[in-house]
Amino acid sequence: MRIIVAITGASGAIYGITLLEQLRLLHIETHFIYSPWGVKTIALETGLTLDQATTLSSYCYPASDLTAPVASGSFLHQGMVVAPCSMKTLAAIACGLADNLITRAADVTIKERRPLILMVRETPLSAIHLENMLKLARLGVTILPPVPAFYHRPQTIQHLVDQTVGRALDLLGITHNLGVRWGEKNH
Ligand SMILES: Cc1cc2nc3c(=O)[nH]c(=O)nc-3n(C[C@H](O)[C@H](O)[C@H](O)COP(=O)(O)O)c2cc1C
Repeated sequence: MRIIVAITGASGAIYGITLLEQLRLLHIETHFIYSPWGVKTIALETGLTLDQATTLSSYCYPASDLTAPVASGSFLHQGMVVAPCSMKTLAAIACGLADNLITRAADVTIKERRPLILMVRETPLSAIHLENMLKLARLGVTILPPVPAFYHRPQTIQHLVDQTVGRALDLLGITHNLGVRWGEKNH
């Protein structure tokens, strides 16, 4: 199994990092794409260097590298997750503006009808943001904002993050032990 993971410059780099960590634990091949602002938020919010983040993945590419295999529809994979997804990257994907490797891989994922999950992060949301999300949702893209639930009484930030990352793994059909499901015991 192969999954593409992209980290853009929205707040919440920990979501993409946690996703890479989990996929690594599950021995799933990952293709990690990072934007320049994604690298900045990884450093600001997690303290990880780019080298430390990329070692979590099987393969990694800067968003500027449009020659990477993931830029082509001939590259077979089982899904792409943008976590977190900035409003800028959301807008580019919604317009088919494939000007970097993240937006190109997303464009290709849509045209090849493979799962695409966008962990969009901004607040409040403008009508522009909402229209872009609606347009993509109607095309079958999953809009998965990292909105926490509290019914499992999370004790740490990582518990909150795990729950959203677990939902992304569920959507990709990947079995995992992250987070607590409704009706199961609390942390
Ligand atoms: C610390 C920091 C936090 C940011 N948080 C957000 C955010 O939550 N949502 C968002 O849409 N943009 C956010 N931005 C702005 C984006 O980084 C900016 O729009 C950038 O052009 C996104 O480019 P990218 O999608 O190619 O990474 C943030 C920027 C910085 C420096």
